[in-house]
Amino acid sequence: MDIRINEVKGVLKKYGQEHLLNHYETLDEEHQKELLDQIEKIDFDLVKRLYEDTKKESKYGQDKITPIEYLDKYKLYDDYKHYENIGKKAIKEGKLAAVTMAGGQGTRLGHNGPKGTYDIGLESHKSLFELLCDGLKEEGKKYDVTIPWFIMTSRENNKATIEFFEKHKYFGYQKDRNIFFFIQGELPMIDTEGKILIGEDGLIKQAADGHGGIYESLVKSGMTAKMKQMGIEWVFIGGVDNCLVKMVDPVLMGIAIDKGVTVACKSVVKANPQEKVGVFCKRNGKPNVIEYSEITEEMAEARDAEGELLYGESHILCNLFSVSAIERMGAEPLPYHVAYKKASYMDRDGKLIVPDSPNAYKFEAFLFDAFGEVDEMAVLRVKREEEFAPVKNADTVGVDCPKTARQLYKKFHNLD
Ligand code: UD1
Repeated sequence: MDIRINEVKGVLKKYGQEHLLNHYETLDEEHQKELLDQIEKIDFDLVKRLYEDTKKESKYGQDKITPIEYLDKYKLYDDYKHYENIGKKAIKEGKLAAVTMAGGQGTRLGHNGPKGTYDIGLESHKSLFELLCDGLKEEGKKYDVTIPWFIMTSRENNKATIEFFEKHKYFGYQKDRNIFFFIQGELPMIDTEGKILIGEDGLIKQAADGHGGIYESLVKSGMTAKMKQMGIEWVFIGGVDNCLVKMVDPVLMGIAIDKGVTVACKSVVKANPQEKVGVFCKRNGKPNVIEYSEITEEMAEARDAEGELLYGESHILCNLFSVSAIERMGAEPLPYHVAYKKASYMDRDGKLIVPDSPNAYKFEAFLFDAFGEVDEMAVLRVKREEEFAPVKNADTVGVDCPKTARQLYKKFHNLD
């Protein structure tokens, strides 16, 4: 142990993070070991670089952003059937799998637990996970297949998620046969001096590193290998918080196959310039999304000659990839976006500090930053009322909340 501690101390000294062992002696043996494991896994050069980047002006300012072309699902005319037939054939052949990104907690919703376990208040009291699974089962029946379902959790919510599925008997799916779980990556949070935070448990304060890590996690956890073994060629990746998500869409798949692209994404028309959604665009000539936190007001408001928003194709986290695209994307590091957040931590004297304003940096990679890996991708505009009912906020906020999602869900499923 002494040798191990000394080695760790040496690394911490090199990076000015010696405080991480301040409370080491107060921990029990198990936690001491866990802390050392955590420290050994940290990429300190990356943390240093990320901290330095917080001081720089956003590099996005210099990028050349232009609108992207899209197809409208309901203006495909004769091509609709053509694409649909191609997609149907591939689905029947078992070439499609679904991935749900469920690494988040329902913090904004005020829900204590994995977001997917949230009950949006339907008469059935079904959780988001069950609503998503219902959709998969219904679609599977149409094609006489079971769509394999891969669920991305985080270290924070993995156990609770699996327990929830156990309790609900995996909604009729079979564990390790057609439902699989894998854990996303995480990164330490740092303060404004670049020091890594220690949480109240005396361990490193880590936060999920965003869904951009999904490609790498899919590859490293062996999921892409499993997919290939199962004959899967296409993977729909969606968020857990959209109770109308349509994970099995033959038209989207047919377009990707017919056009020979390895990424095909769905969009809906942005409700208004201020809506909190990312929008599809081209960045330096490559497909991309500008996130709502990064778009300028001028760009958000810009309209074309017909009066349509120039950047009006909202990214709804409904994206289809070929397995080979996932593998390629998993091999390249993505940039990290920084968020300044409130994070409780233990100070040098072992006192728990609960800040009432932001005090720490959190780093997240976004899945759409990998879109630039391909030269062309397809964007398919679909109808909001058919495919997008997100549950993000508490009802008091009034938008993208359980109440609005419930209304949309009931309307679509004729439950009123
Ligand atoms: C997200 C999109 C935005 C899009 C909007 C549509 C991002 C960064 N932005 O915004 O472009 O228009 O949804 O609803 O995603 N998740 C993980 N692990 C993480 C982070 C997120 O699994 O580390 C999952 C969440 O559980 C959720 C989804 O990704 O299912 C979206 O994450 P969230 O942080 O809620 O993104 P939004 O700000 O809503």
